[in-house]
Amino acid sequence: MSYQANEKRYDRMLYRQVGQSGLKLPAISLGLWRNFGDDSPLTTQKDLILKAFDLGITHFDLANNYGGGAAERNFGRIFQDHLKPYRDELIIATKAGYQMWDGPYGDGGSRKYLMSSCDASLKRLGLDYVDIFYHHRHDPETPLAETAVALDSLVRSGKALYIGISNYSAADASAISDIFKALKTPFIINQMKYNLFEREFEDELKAVTLNEGIGNISFSPLAQGQLTNRYLNGIPEDSRISRKGALTDAVTFEHNLAKVRELQAIAEARQQTIAELAIAWQLRDSGVSSVLIGASRVSQLEENVKALDNLTFTDAELQAINAILKMTR
Ligand SMILES: NC(=O)c1ccc[n+]([C@@H]2O[C@H](COP(=O)([O-])OP(=O)(O)OC[C@H]3O[C@@H](n4cnc5c(N)ncnc54)[C@H](OP(=O)(O)O)[C@@H]3O)[C@@H](O)[C@H]2O)c1
Repeated sequence: MSYQANEKRYDRMLYRQVGQSGLKLPAISLGLWRNFGDDSPLTTQKDLILKAFDLGITHFDLANNYGGGAAERNFGRIFQDHLKPYRDELIIATKAGYQMWDGPYGDGGSRKYLMSSCDASLKRLGLDYVDIFYHHRHDPETPLAETAVALDSLVRSGKALYIGISNYSAADASAISDIFKALKTPFIINQMKYNLFEREFEDELKAVTLNEGIGNISFSPLAQGQLTNRYLNGIPEDSRISRKGALTDAVTFEHNLAKVRELQAIAEARQQTIAELAIAWQLRDSGVSSVLIGASRVSQLEENVKALDNLTFTDAELQAINAILKMTR
């Protein structure tokens, strides 16, 4: 039977403005970095994507290199078979910036690489355009203006609606923002690593994006699963660590687990799980437009969206969380 989206899909999700743009993203978005390559069953991928959409998650984040291109291909198949009638309800993003093919033109930030990569992504996805195209990381060997003009060209040629950057320093983000302003490029979003354990975003980048009117979407908000109950009783065989290897060095992992055990009491008092607390903690701040989670099973999606039920924190809770996180290593 053909897929019919849940009629109540917009009832519970929150949609938040991306910087000063007109675009709204769901407070929780789904990324396809892990679990959507050819090593994961396509039926599980389909279940995750369709469940996400049923929960109001309208935004799916990809990149040319996720699964070596397989994630875009697999998403494209699922889109073609089930989601095509809903194209105008979806925000589909992809990126280029990391090594993708052999030779000097398959990596970095040159016009040559970005234009070819976007075409290849659209082909794998089976789409005419993506909603957001990101430069995945700053390339010190390419002038920023070349990268910016290439991204602007993608918008002018109808291949992307909006532009984003990822993994840029505050200084590089500010510099490319100036170029985009001169070009009148719809540059609206920054994608950065941000979670309770990794808060470098707060140092300088946050102020730059707020100042420039750029929205933020945080990746690895659960520290790849460490900020959940996943590892509290050992390393499960079907977990990311078992499948992909260590997430961090063994000492940091143990310290992180100790912090999670302490955070659990605060989460329980808020009637939340650790994952819900970790997501809500980010969304309490309007500077984070969306939290970009990963998932290996539908139950994780269902749990994570429950974070939306309680996004406010008392000062005492925030102080207690900070005190735990400052635990010395
Ligand atoms: N721009 C960049 O450079 C960049 C870099 C990294 C990621 N990203 C984007 O961000 C997305 C998310 O990154 P991420 O996957 O690292 O995010 P994450 O949400 O921190 O980690 C996701 C993993 O956490 C576990 N998990 C999620 N919910 C759970 C729950 N309720 N209970 C227990 N475990 C739970 C699952 O691990 P198991 O698989 O073990 O079940 C899941 O695969 C990526 O898919 C990608 O789109 C971007």
